[in-house]
Amino acid sequence: MKTQRRVLLSLLWIQICWLSVQMKVEQSPGVLTLQEGRNSSLICNYSTSLRGVQWFQQNPDGRLISLFYIALGMQQKGRLKSTINSKERYSQLYIRDSQPGDSATYFCAVETQ
Ligand SMILES: *[C@@H]1O[C@H](CO)[C@@H](O)[C@H](O)[C@H]1NC(C)=O
Ligand SMILES: *[C@@H]1O[C@H](CO)[C@@H](O)[C@H](O)[C@H]1NC(C)=O
Repeated sequence: MKTQRRVLLSLLWIQICWLSVQMKVEQSPGVLTLQEGRNSSLICNYSTSLRGVQWFQQNPDGRLISLFYIALGMQQKGRLKSTINSKERYSQLYIRDSQPGDSATYFCAVETQ
């Protein structure tokens, strides 16, 4: 029987720039463990209008990788996809066919207008 490996995703947020408007960013889920091969999505909600959302991945070795900067619609890079819904104020990061190498901390950074 094939050993099922697990993929651990954790999610944090940072805010890169803000004005006097009170800004609230929420991400969910906080920590997620999923089976290899599963699809998953992380969501970042925000409370003011903004220019765009930047998604980062920080690997266990500390390397920070920029995944997407998304201001409109959808972007895709291999097994990763990001979408933004400006009207309902959230951005989603989808991970398809998750691999142990996807185990990382994911950051969502928002740039306000
Ligand atoms: C993951 O998503 C892809 C494309 O959206 C789909 O074809 C595939 O069946 C999904 N895999 C699982 C395990 O749900
Ligand atoms: C974020 O927004 C989505 C879509 O409106 C909603 O389904 C979800 O519950 C919200 N999550 C949080 C943490 O507020």
